[in-house]
Amino acid sequence: MKDFIFPGNFLWGAATAAHQVEGNNINSESWVLEHLPGTIYAEPSGDACDHYHRYPSDIALLAGLGFNSYRFSIEWARIEPEEGEFSYAELEHYRRMLAACHEHGIKPVLTLHHFTSPRWLMRYGGWLDKTTPERYARYCERVVDHLGDLISAACTFNEPNLPVLLSKMLPFNPQETPFWKTAAQAFGVPPDRVGLFQFVAQPQMRDIIFDAHRRAFDILHAGPGNFPVGLTLALVDIQSADGGDSMAAEFRRELADNYLEQLHGDDFVGVQTYSRMLVGAEGLIQPGENVEKNQMGEEYYPEALDGTIRHAAQVAGIPVIVTENGLSTTDDTRRVEYFQRALRCVADCLESGIDVRGYFCWSAMDNFEWVSGYRPQFGIIAVDRKTQQRTPKPSAYWLGNIARANRLQLE
Ligand code: BGC
Repeated sequence: MKDFIFPGNFLWGAATAAHQVEGNNINSESWVLEHLPGTIYAEPSGDACDHYHRYPSDIALLAGLGFNSYRFSIEWARIEPEEGEFSYAELEHYRRMLAACHEHGIKPVLTLHHFTSPRWLMRYGGWLDKTTPERYARYCERVVDHLGDLISAACTFNEPNLPVLLSKMLPFNPQETPFWKTAAQAFGVPPDRVGLFQFVAQPQMRDIIFDAHRRAFDILHAGPGNFPVGLTLALVDIQSADGGDSMAAEFRRELADNYLEQLHGDDFVGVQTYSRMLVGAEGLIQPGENVEKNQMGEEYYPEALDGTIRHAAQVAGIPVIVTENGLSTTDDTRRVEYFQRALRCVADCLESGIDVRGYFCWSAMDNFEWVSGYRPQFGIIAVDRKTQQRTPKPSAYWLGNIARANRLQLE
């Protein structure tokens, strides 16, 4: 038995995103989509976990479990519910949330945009419109002005590469569904101008988001506050099988490197990994029937994190924070094993000299999993959907104890 000791200032936390946990995010485009006739969302987000009101006890609970950090997002649609109308009250709300973190010895890692945008932005074509970076930069200015002194680290965007990844994984293209036409009508734009961050896999959108990222990077660095700034990427471990070397290399370029290469000069890259992808000569190989899977249908494969950390560090050449890693399952014992094996990968990467600065599990609590609704359970804390009562699962205590000890027992 050997103990691996993590670096002294290692961040240990859980992650959430505003729309998935706050509840009643009614000025967001996602709220509109969830309520469209023929929606592809399994159910609406509704009250979610009522984290908007319950953040004080939620943050206290995470601190009590042993974590020293919390990654959460703030909601643009609340802070700027109509174009140019900024809400002081909502900025104050998030200020109280950040202050609550500090009161509990929790370092807040703040995401400024986690998939959702104000519904008014869609009238301009959302993330397909060249004026959006300017509007996003204006929002970032307000945010850093009001909150900057309390931020420990910031992610400008969450997973701008997700749509490209989904385009490989989903059996259908959301843009070719009747739902897309209904969405276009709802936002008052033609179908080719529905600029939804989560669903549009076009290089033009990538350029617009990176323009916004660069502007935000400078604005956040100008202060107030002095904290590292980066963004997060959805990274699957792409492995080749059955003569799939060149196809896998193509996948790596399209899904990861086109994004990672743009991050030189950033303070960190947020690695978000759930599973691996096997690529053969003809493309994606679906996991076989007998392979253990998570509730999203992906292979149970905690070791994916080893490949993604190494690849991200090598291509981006900057420090890494694991900003999301976890398992959707109803069997929490599988989650504990998943964390254990994934943390082993983090330890191995640190031992090889890679600068990994933190580990955040997805997610702090069972929450609204976008189009899949509330069925997938990613949380280390269970939430009773009616009473909103929180019940930490054994994995919460397990991971919290590792966090508190800052060490992992290696067999
Ligand atoms: C996202 C989360 C999501 C999680 C699990 C990531 O793509 O950042 O919002 O809930 O994966 O699917």
